[in-house]
Amino acid sequence: MEKTFEKIVSHAKNTGFVFQGSEIYGGLSNTWDFGPYGVSLKDNIKRAWQKKFIQEDPNNVEIQAAILMNPKVWEASGHLKGFSDPLMDCRNCKTRHRADQLIEAYTEGKVTCEGWSKEEMENYIRENKIPCPDCGKHDFTPIRQFNLMFKTFQGTLEDAKSTIYLRPETAQGMFVDFKSVQRAYRKKLPFGIGQIGKSFRNEITPGNFIFRTREFQQMEMEFFCKPGTDDDWFPYWRKFCMDWILSLGGNPENLRFRDHTPEELSFYSKGTTDIEYKFPWGWGELWGIADRTDYDLTQHQNTSGVSMEYLDPYTNEKYIPYVVEPAVGVERLFFMFFTDAYDEETLENGDVRVVMHFHPVLAPVKAAVLPLRKKHGEIAEKIRHELSIDFNVAYDEAGSIGKRYRRMDEIGTPFCITVDDQTEQDGTVTIRYRDTMAQERMTVEEVRAKIAQEIRF
Ligand code: GAP
Repeated sequence: MEKTFEKIVSHAKNTGFVFQGSEIYGGLSNTWDFGPYGVSLKDNIKRAWQKKFIQEDPNNVEIQAAILMNPKVWEASGHLKGFSDPLMDCRNCKTRHRADQLIEAYTEGKVTCEGWSKEEMENYIRENKIPCPDCGKHDFTPIRQFNLMFKTFQGTLEDAKSTIYLRPETAQGMFVDFKSVQRAYRKKLPFGIGQIGKSFRNEITPGNFIFRTREFQQMEMEFFCKPGTDDDWFPYWRKFCMDWILSLGGNPENLRFRDHTPEELSFYSKGTTDIEYKFPWGWGELWGIADRTDYDLTQHQNTSGVSMEYLDPYTNEKYIPYVVEPAVGVERLFFMFFTDAYDEETLENGDVRVVMHFHPVLAPVKAAVLPLRKKHGEIAEKIRHELSIDFNVAYDEAGSIGKRYRRMDEIGTPFCITVDDQTEQDGTVTIRYRDTMAQERMTVEEVRAKIAQEIRF
């Protein structure tokens, strides 16, 4: 069974996980709304991250910084100057293109522009007479650097003084708050500050459904450590991130590490590894783990005049900590887990069932309560209510029991609980397992214990 891009996207839309944004107005390109199952899947991903990266790690804490930050933050971080894409306009049809992507598409990926200067890209495009992908003419303007930060104004005046930016990464919140957290919580190195929140980038080439959008959520952690120990923490966090994905059912055949070449490294990074996933169109970045050295804290110290030094209580040395950063997008993980979970199975009777094999921790609905007949509705509703105190539970009484099982398979509900005549007599129900379709009889209390056990993470 081939998991095509079209199949995955249409399943996400048809089952109500994801909708086109502003759909009744014809949509707004590359914006997506998440329906109730989508929200639940996202929440489960975020909670699983929080659990392993923050809650269970005695070193790490979590913050929520403001999305709108003093513009000096972006001056210090280098985003005002360096966070840009090389753009060319086609003079003939007035479309806008990224120079590196023109070259990569023209050479079918044989030439990548890692580390190329603006002039090198312009020359390559001129010498090879690369045509505009939209109109076929070769008539481009010179490259202009286009900043990816969204600009807006604070207050009533729309002038340079009131210009502010929507944050393009959550990371700077952790750098700016480093001293406050360290002092107030008496943290000793090494320790991490994590954050989950929205980031915004005016991407030139958004697309591939929710893979690259202009508004997305990041889960980032800045792990502050003594200079020199970053060489140990970098491989530690690389492995930790991969293990986290695998423990939630990620298929190892679709995952790999890719180290950045020196030319490719971001301006702040000493070493970066991406965890890549084999998306339906090919390998793509899922998670970036970077050794950001003392770059950001030094920049903020220099720009703000506030010391970012740490006084080591063991050695009495003063230094600016180094930082290892695992940074991932919630929607990318969503797409990855959604694609991995998708399956089509041919049953003995020849029917095909679409089933989402989500890890129970991630499954948006943990169990569905299904009264076999209308007359079982009252007791079934009681069971639904009892279970809903602990879990996200669905209730469905419409259509044949077979159809109801299929609907739950399609959204990846791991347990279906059928209520029948016997329930009224002895309080037992039938539990049906999504993956094996096997059924067992047990009490509601045993069902509760089983679900709790399966979603323990
Ligand atoms: N603080 C470092 C940082 O932001 P990044 O590689 O630019 O690094 C980290 O972003 C992660 O955020 C990516 O690996 C990806 O999962 C997610 N991400 C970045 N840009 C995105 C976009 N336009 N749409 C969706 N997710 C994005």
